[in-house]
Amino acid sequence: MSYDPSDDGARMSFQGRMSYGDYLHLDKILTAQHPLSQAHDEMLFIVQHQTSELWMKLALHELNAARAAIASGNLQPAFKMLTRVARIMEQLNSAWDVLRTMTPSEYTEFRESLGESSGFQSWQYRMIEFVAGNRNIEMLRPHEHREALVASLRAEIARPSLYDVVLSHLRACGFDIPPRERLDRPHLPDPAARAAWASIYRDPVRWWELYELAEKLVDFEDYFRRWRFNHVTTVERIIGFKRGSGGTSGVNYLRRMLDVVLFADLWELRTEL
Ligand code: HEM
Repeated sequence: MSYDPSDDGARMSFQGRMSYGDYLHLDKILTAQHPLSQAHDEMLFIVQHQTSELWMKLALHELNAARAAIASGNLQPAFKMLTRVARIMEQLNSAWDVLRTMTPSEYTEFRESLGESSGFQSWQYRMIEFVAGNRNIEMLRPHEHREALVASLRAEIARPSLYDVVLSHLRACGFDIPPRERLDRPHLPDPAARAAWASIYRDPVRWWELYELAEKLVDFEDYFRRWRFNHVTTVERIIGFKRGSGGTSGVNYLRRMLDVVLFADLWELRTEL
C-alpha cells in the first residue's frame, strides 16, 4: 500500500476551496514566461529577471515600511526591515551564480529577441535607488511612456528619502543638520551630517540606537554594491565590451555605476575616525 498523507490529516480535495496555487496566483506567475526564441537558455534569462523583480518588490515593501518607522521614531522595527533588505540583496547576489552558467555562445542565441529591452528600464530598480536617496531625474525618461509608472517615480522623488528621514531623526535627537533644499536630487556629502555621525561613532554607548541605524544603512549599501559588482562581472563574462541592449556602452557604463554612493557621509566618516 502506498502512503496516504490524508491519514496524517492532509487535505486532498480542493473543490470550492482556496488552494496553494489560488492563494499565490501561480496560474498568473507560471504562465508569464514567454521566450521569443527557440534557445534553451532564454528561459533562464527570463526567470532570473522575473525573480529579481519579485525580490525587488519585497525590498521596496521593506524599505518603505522602514522609512515610515524611522519617520515615527520607531527604530527597532526599522532595524529588522533593513536587515531583511540586506538579506534580499544577498539572495540576489547568490542568484548571479545561476546566470553565470550561461556562456557567451548561449546568450548570443537569443540576444536578438530582447531588442532594446534592458534592466536599465527596470522601474523597480530605479524606485529602490530613489527611495534610498540616489535620485537622478534623467532616469525617469525611459518610463515616460507609462503614465502611472512615471507618476509613482515622480511622487517618490518629491518625498523625503530613507536617508532624509534618518537625518530628520538625527535632528530630533539634537544634532544640527540643515535640511536639504531639493529632494529630487541625489544626496551630496554633507559636512554637518558627517560630523553628527562622527560624534555617534566616537561614543557608541551613548548613541547606541543611532549607531545601529548607521550600521544597518551601511550593511544595505554594502550588499547593494556587491550586487552591482556581480552584475558587471557577469555582464563582462557574457558580452565582453559589446554595447548593452539598452543602448549604453555596456560594461563601461556599469563600471561607472560602481561609483554610485548612497550614504556618502557614513562612508566618509570612516576615514576620520
Ligand atoms: C545576461 C545577463 C545580463 C546582461 C548581459 C546584462 C547587461 C546589462 C547592461 C549592458 C546594462 C547597461 C544598460 C544597457 O545598455 O543595457 C545593464 C543594466 C542593468 N541591468 Fe543587466 N544584464 C544582465 C542581467 C541582469 C539581471 C538578471 C538583472 C536583474 C534584474 C539586471 C538588472 C539590470 C539593471 C537594474 C540595470 C540598470 C543598472 C543601472 O542603471 O545602474 N541585469 N545590464
